Amino acid sequence: MIGGRATGPLSERKATCRAGSNIAFIKYWGVAGDFEDLNIPLNNSISMTLADAHTTTTVAWDDSGCLQEDTVAIDGVELVGPSAERTVAHLDRLRAIAGVSYRARVVSNNNFPMASGIASSASGFAALTVAGAAALGLHLDATRLSAVARQGSGSASRSLFGGFVEWERGWGGESEAKRGESESNSLLDSRSVARQLHSEDHWALRDVIAIVSTGAKRVSSSSGHRLAATSPLNAARTGCVGAWLETVRRAIAERDLCLLGPILELDALAMHGVMMTSTPSLLYWQPGTLEVLQAVRTWREDEGVPVYFTIDAGPNVHLICEAEAAAEVERRVGALPAVGRVLTSGPGTGPELLDGHLI
Ligand code: DP6
Repeated sequence: MIGGRATGPLSERKATCRAGSNIAFIKYWGVAGDFEDLNIPLNNSISMTLADAHTTTTVAWDDSGCLQEDTVAIDGVELVGPSAERTVAHLDRLRAIAGVSYRARVVSNNNFPMASGIASSASGFAALTVAGAAALGLHLDATRLSAVARQGSGSASRSLFGGFVEWERGWGGESEAKRGESESNSLLDSRSVARQLHSEDHWALRDVIAIVSTGAKRVSSSSGHRLAATSPLNAARTGCVGAWLETVRRAIAERDLCLLGPILELDALAMHGVMMTSTPSLLYWQPGTLEVLQAVRTWREDEGVPVYFTIDAGPNVHLICEAEAAAEVERRVGALPAVGRVLTSGPGTGPELLDGHLI
């Protein structure tokens, strides 16, 4: 049994959820200073939920009081100490909402390599939130679940919905922001939540992920968000994002890749400009990253291949194209010396509760 340390027979309330990761077209980078623990972003972001990159999580709450502590296993490895803390803190949020003190066993599997540049925190915290809440019998709609998931991982708020999704910053300014009166009110405060723009069958886009490095990143997104404000470029980026969001909403509504593509490249580069000019500076790119970026530009500009790039907090490159171009893009990117592996996903549904459990 993974996650023992029980003093007697467990009586468990169990649920299992599968949730997709997502790729952002307008990025979440930076949190509002006074509300760091709530993950209130500096700007709205827009993403596509991924069908083929997902996390399945079972949460089993022990209501007998026999389990002494929470246990967490991801991809067969039991987390200990600090690596389990973020999950335990999220279980604490669910316990506070439900008003219980049960400990839990959490077992979670990703269908993609964790160091692939696909956000496992997005799918992981979305699945944990939905499974954890369902197993406690909490009846929370997707909007409330998005608010709860956001506090575990900002990008997880978007994985509560399928298709094309916008996470609204919600809280206008820090002076306007009022925290909830009680802990559980604040946990369920739904001002900063995601909503679906279009369902997964609206547009057959593809995310072709070029993996140039599988090494763990030195600085996590969570730490990076706290550094954004130290960059002299941060205000310039957030000042532009309003107009970029409008263009991206329109491009998705009209299924117009020529409108979407330049903005998604621009915001990825703007975000990495902020990262590189933060104190301390964050440099996520590897030589292979630049090789892919240069190749994409050459294919598009010289040969008319309709593909654009975006990059998250890591060295791997996400190539966004329409379904008809995906095989050609996979073939080209897979032939680059820097690329070790290629993973492709289209738009997927929101989280689903499953009948089968992992424990
Ligand atoms: C670069 O959601 O991973 O992928 O809130 O600390 O979990 P935490 O950060 P996370 O940040 C994602 C950053 C990004 C851009 C994006 O997905 O919008």
